[in-house]
Amino acid sequence: MTDLTIRNVNVIDGTGAAPYLADVEIEAGRIKSIGTGGPATTEIDGQGKFLSPGFIDTHAHDDGAFFRHPGMEFKLAQGVTTVVSGNCGFSAIPLDPDKDLVRASGGILAGIEGDFRDLEGYFEAVLARNPAINNMMLVGHNTVRTLVMGHEARKPTSQELTTMKDHVSLAMEQGACGFSTGLIYRPGRYSETDEVIALAEAANPFDALYTTHMRNEGDRLLEAVEETLLIGRESNVHTHISHHKSAGKPNWGKVVESLQRVDKALGEGQRVTLDVYPYTAGSGRMIEYFNLDNISREFAEVIRIASCPAYREYEGRMLVDIAAADNIDIVDLVRQILTAPKGDRTLCIHFIIDEADIETNLRHKDMMVGSDGIPDLNGKPHPRLFGTFPRILGHYVRERKILSLTEAVRRMTSLSAATFGIKDRGQVREGYWADLVLFDADKVRDTASYDDPKQEPEGIQLVIVNGGIAQQRGRHTHIGSGKMLRYRRSAYSE
Ligand code: ZN
Ligand code: CU
Repeated sequence: MTDLTIRNVNVIDGTGAAPYLADVEIEAGRIKSIGTGGPATTEIDGQGKFLSPGFIDTHAHDDGAFFRHPGMEFKLAQGVTTVVSGNCGFSAIPLDPDKDLVRASGGILAGIEGDFRDLEGYFEAVLARNPAINNMMLVGHNTVRTLVMGHEARKPTSQELTTMKDHVSLAMEQGACGFSTGLIYRPGRYSETDEVIALAEAANPFDALYTTHMRNEGDRLLEAVEETLLIGRESNVHTHISHHKSAGKPNWGKVVESLQRVDKALGEGQRVTLDVYPYTAGSGRMIEYFNLDNISREFAEVIRIASCPAYREYEGRMLVDIAAADNIDIVDLVRQILTAPKGDRTLCIHFIIDEADIETNLRHKDMMVGSDGIPDLNGKPHPRLFGTFPRILGHYVRERKILSLTEAVRRMTSLSAATFGIKDRGQVREGYWADLVLFDADKVRDTASYDDPKQEPEGIQLVIVNGGIAQQRGRHTHIGSGKMLRYRRSAYSE
């Protein structure tokens, strides 16, 4: 008998096709049939609501969260069933357990005792925690470079470059979907374009991706796009621009030109894709945005503290307000925070993006959605961690009508699956893995705010991961049915 039948649902299949009414039968983790369902061990009445493929978060930093929070409630509650981790050049692998894990991973492995070294070991370690959702991994430039060269600000020797390339190749052999960079961060920013090309070339034999947090997203955005496209052309790999934006008020609107440049490259046959998060603030490790010898007052003024081990009382407050209340100059305040014990673990939120640019991005034909959520639940994280996907459906689809419901779902499911080599997922289709989300299109909305960010969204009624009921009417079942995915192949240990 069938394991699970979800009756009476409006199927949005993920391809962009119009919804249709059907029952969906699930057996052994996969979709057995879509039509008129027979009897099943478990039956759920969908009451005519929309059933779509589970959402794919193309931009995650969940490498460490799979250890710290294997229930992945903040993702599951949004209807996310698969994440792509290892972004912005920071990944859990490769690792030398004898070295400083926090430093190598850009903080994503803070507090974790890792005894894995490569992707195989990482997958095995994560699966032992029964993760709630699926994970596809990138291998990160900053991590690889730190492992081989520390934080040295110089070119690699040819031997070092070969060693780095070997790490990247090994990760892909083991199933990583690509190579990521974060060229604004240390030590990625010390690399020149030719180093990145050489490492991105390691993705070529696997036809895998090069994904990038570009060298500049503000004053020199267009130059950074040129560099990105050059890297893609020279290495001949599919290039994906992460969290596309123009940061800083004087740069607002530049995304129009940047997208035109991408369109031109597409017209010339280059493979380029992008994603965006639906918020006007960015977030990251505060230390990465400042030069302690020359602290930018202007940037400090748009910062709000997300989490701060040294000064918990600052969490959720703008630096300008803290400075005024404590009667201290904002520049001195930045120095005080960053030089305190564990000051380098401070996470901040910076209001740097124009709302109109988000809509411009979402109007672009194949713009995908990535949360860029930073899974540190201390303090007040950026609300994108809990709200991204319902925010697209509620705010940008229903309220602002920037894109249609079926198109939004396509960009958050089948398109992401095809781009990131997530096999047999991303569509409601017979034989595909049963990663599904049932939602109420009239009610779905994000409730996470900057003041109250750890709020699960409304209107997500049921989330199925590999055929298992992971979340139902707001209740997490902790069934732990997630898998570790390998690029265009079956999952690890299958
Ligand atoms: Zn980034
Ligand atoms: Cu990121």
